[in-house]
Amino acid sequence: MAENLKKRIEQLRSEIRRHDYLYYVLNQPEISDRQYDKLFAELKSLEQANPQYKTADSPTQRVSERPIEGFTSIRHAVPMLSMDNTYNADELRAFDERVAKGLGSRDYDYVIELKIDGLAVSLRYEKGVLVLGATRGDGTKGDDVTHNVKTIKAIPLRLVEEVPDVLEVRGEVYIPTETFAELNRLRTEAGEPAFANPRNAAAGSLKLLDARITATRNLSFFAYATGQISQPLAENHYQTLQKFKKLGLPVNPNIKRAGTIDEAIDICLGWSDKKHNLDYQIDGMVIKVNRFDQQDILGATGRAPRWCISYKFPAEQAKTIIESIDVQVGKSGILTPVANLTAVQLAGTTVRRASLHNFDELNRLDVRCGDTVVIEKAGEIIPQVVEVKKKLRPAGTEPFKIPKRCPDCGSPTVKDLEGVYIRCLNPDCAAQLKERLKYFAAKGQMDIENLGIALIEQLVDVGLAKNFADLYKLQKSQLAELERMAEKSADNVIEAIEKSKRQPLWRLIAALGIRHIGSQSAQILAEHFGSLNAIMKADVEELKAIEQIGPTMAESVYEYFRNTKYRTVVDELLAVGVKPPQPKKRRTDKLAGKIIVVTGTLENFTRQQAEQAVREAGGKVSSSVSGKTAFVLAGTNAGSKLDKAQKLGVEVINEKEFLEIIKG
Ligand code: IVH
Repeated sequence: MAENLKKRIEQLRSEIRRHDYLYYVLNQPEISDRQYDKLFAELKSLEQANPQYKTADSPTQRVSERPIEGFTSIRHAVPMLSMDNTYNADELRAFDERVAKGLGSRDYDYVIELKIDGLAVSLRYEKGVLVLGATRGDGTKGDDVTHNVKTIKAIPLRLVEEVPDVLEVRGEVYIPTETFAELNRLRTEAGEPAFANPRNAAAGSLKLLDARITATRNLSFFAYATGQISQPLAENHYQTLQKFKKLGLPVNPNIKRAGTIDEAIDICLGWSDKKHNLDYQIDGMVIKVNRFDQQDILGATGRAPRWCISYKFPAEQAKTIIESIDVQVGKSGILTPVANLTAVQLAGTTVRRASLHNFDELNRLDVRCGDTVVIEKAGEIIPQVVEVKKKLRPAGTEPFKIPKRCPDCGSPTVKDLEGVYIRCLNPDCAAQLKERLKYFAAKGQMDIENLGIALIEQLVDVGLAKNFADLYKLQKSQLAELERMAEKSADNVIEAIEKSKRQPLWRLIAALGIRHIGSQSAQILAEHFGSLNAIMKADVEELKAIEQIGPTMAESVYEYFRNTKYRTVVDELLAVGVKPPQPKKRRTDKLAGKIIVVTGTLENFTRQQAEQAVREAGGKVSSSVSGKTAFVLAGTNAGSKLDKAQKLGVEVINEKEFLEIIKG
């Protein structure tokens, strides 16, 4: 019986691993999402019912349920070097000359790869099981980000086939372009700074304490090198990449070999146009000498190997004309100038609008209607105006005037204390209200389907929506009278609004549009307090004390709920029946306030799982035994920590006793 159960669990795991590989690495799924979910659900329930069979490399263990407390710094077994850059074909030829001179012959070949715009990580597999994921850091020391790396489905938790006992795989974690754009849209809407490029977004996502948030970032991975390795995988780089694929690791499909630098240059230049067809961003190409023995001869300078080089693409630019400049009013009243352009092709898309950021920037560049300008996309999704061709300026143009009044409500504008933003301070400005309502109903917040942008604008224009709570008071008959609104769609809208009353707490918090509070910080607040009431009551100190909530956020939350106008609307929301379900209590308090040390090899848990169990029971984990230690959980082969506990008279318990405590 137990044997059968164990077999079934193993079978499910290997099936799920295979489907993860087909889906995330090969892009060739064999089964539907539903079928996959079914397998996953079966495995999860079997593991829950039989925790003795849980293992750290099970596909169910990708997302840990608890945030970690901080990052541990680790030393790389083999340093992670950086790479020298080149910007044109001549520099690449000079690199080739150095290679030929270093090797004393022209008998070598190159591998040409895409330079993925992400973040380098090192994955350590021991006996084929992923035990560590680390960032590059300064090249010598990085951060342990295993909890987040495990959420990346393209990264196998276990390798297939025979592998060396120790295998460090290096590669790039990246964020797909679409996710990057969406993430930035949500951040901008929440008043948080947008990530400047996909690299920063990937880095930001890997440096989160809470893996559940990382898991939403859709990160992916390409393997391109080895670090420490107990037995060589192959004789050259190209073979290594082929071997990676066999092991189940994702390798970028656009790998080419070249016998001469001219061939390599052709391949590099060709990608300058083709790169727009990829669904992730690349910022250049990488050329590597293929043979490992030749790489060894060439060696490295302190910073970078002499056997590889990157070729960086020039920033994408285009010339066009400013037809007009609009001023948009954001949900917090910030006025933003946006340029309407004569349509132009840039980096694979047709561009009609460009950001001017703010009025300081607009003045600095002195952008005027009718100007010929250079726009640029460098990693970013939204093109920017970077230069005005003053010589081409038509006669009779005038500098753009900073609006003294809000273009929508006409009330006077004010310059922010920080001196960058111009704001409309009218709390009843219809343009602001529209933006706030759109944000409230949008996918990242209350996710009210059918309540689209056009409908929200109408509702504000006819006076049916003056605040968030009004949405919940809408009657079907009122909606049916609006333009383009059939009875059926009125029904759908009402239904969707009704449904949103039970959205999780973090969505409601995010939807309020509190300055500096985006979905991420909303999740942290929701988790910490458990109810809106508790958040509203919290004082600044209490808010500041939460890890990942900075003083600016804390003050912003505090102020928001002390503002009578906002507070009235929130109270009204609760009164009309918006009631997020009570979040499940995750913690028990069996070990509340106790400091526990785990040591030795356990049978039913990995070290991490045991520590997790301690935290879930409200306890704290420490790595050293002291007088404050409540008890030491010791497995077999426990060493110095056990000795120390005995010396200090600290209680030592075994695994069975531990299980009894946490299960109660
Ligand atoms: S090889 C010693 N291959 O570029 C060099 N790096 O500018 C080992 N990168 O830190 C790296 N795509 O984050 C290599 N196909 C590729 C790459 C790549 C992107 C990144 C990597 C590295 C940075 C150096």
